[in-house]
Amino acid sequence: MLLLMAVKKLIHNIDFGPVWAMSGLLNFFGEGWPYHKLIKIFGVNFNHVTLVSKTTTLLANKGNMPLKKNLMPAELIPKSVYQNFFRRHALNAISLSGPGAEEILSSPKLREKTTPFQLSFMSAADSEIERLDEFEKFIKILLREFPNYRARVGLQLNVTCPNIAHDNPQREEILKMLDMCDPLIEKGIAIILKISVEMPTQNIIVLGEHKNCHAICTSNTVNFGNLPEKINWQKLFPNGSPLLKRNLNVKKPGGLSGAPLLPLVIEQIKALRQAGFTEHINGGGGILYKNDVDKIIDAGADSISLGSVAFLNPLAIPGIIKRAKELIS
Ligand SMILES: Cc1cc2nc3c(=O)[nH]c(=O)nc-3n(C[C@H](O)[C@H](O)[C@H](O)COP(=O)(O)O)c2cc1C
Repeated sequence: MLLLMAVKKLIHNIDFGPVWAMSGLLNFFGEGWPYHKLIKIFGVNFNHVTLVSKTTTLLANKGNMPLKKNLMPAELIPKSVYQNFFRRHALNAISLSGPGAEEILSSPKLREKTTPFQLSFMSAADSEIERLDEFEKFIKILLREFPNYRARVGLQLNVTCPNIAHDNPQREEILKMLDMCDPLIEKGIAIILKISVEMPTQNIIVLGEHKNCHAICTSNTVNFGNLPEKINWQKLFPNGSPLLKRNLNVKKPGGLSGAPLLPLVIEQIKALRQAGFTEHINGGGGILYKNDVDKIIDAGADSISLGSVAFLNPLAIPGIIKRAKELIS
């Protein structure tokens, strides 16, 4: 029997708790998605799960999931999300649909929160100069809004979304973003990098050594077709990406979530710890069962994140949360 426990490791002096929502799980403000009302009937709730807001871009971004004014999906079943309940994996090509940072960051729903939460940002611009410029503008908005928040705040820098037109920023660009975070850190805002299992260990080590990187959260979805030596795409999708066949205006075939990610996340966390990475690691990606928590903590994670389990295996969620609270103290 595994008896490994994780000792609570604060992030820039903030306790974000043992279980976080993967960005996207609870929508922008923690309100969740329409189907969450259904799973609530079966006793599934996210009351003790730390909100990580869905990623916002600086400006309003149409993406592939049309949103209503209340930021709920306009489609009953969003076309940009494919689920395979039998094999417990999903593909999405939402591409960061949202109203932009002004509307999100100034929302009263964030102002009234009393427990720590994290925002998530990614630029949708094409060039490095434009992306860094957008980040600078985002920082200005956050610094303006920050005094209105009652809760402690973290910022996830989403540097790994596969569904955005530009390739993921390179290491040097992420280092520049971290350089720009000084004024946020002075205000007590924690900086967390949302990475993916596609990022080489050596790059993560270098990023983690930056004074402004307080933690990492892994993993984002995997670009369709990438890591072929580790993911049997042909077996998962013998006919290619189902999203490309849905008449969406998608240029990319989507990012993979769910069961196939878990062994890769475990391998990545182990490799990071073996290489001497000491920052807080939040691990998730394919956590679908209670036992998966043991595996992630055993690998060296300090906290866990829940993502597509919310629709791939929702009834397991109460047990997963309970197990994480037992193992992380
Ligand atoms: C429908 C959906 C929406 C997502 N939206 C975001 C997002 O806005 N920002 C982000 O960083 N990751 C987003 N992700 C990726 C998840 O946060 C998570 O990293 C990924 O799904 C792997 O975890 P899982 O296997 O537990 O789902 C999204 C994933 C899904 C399935």
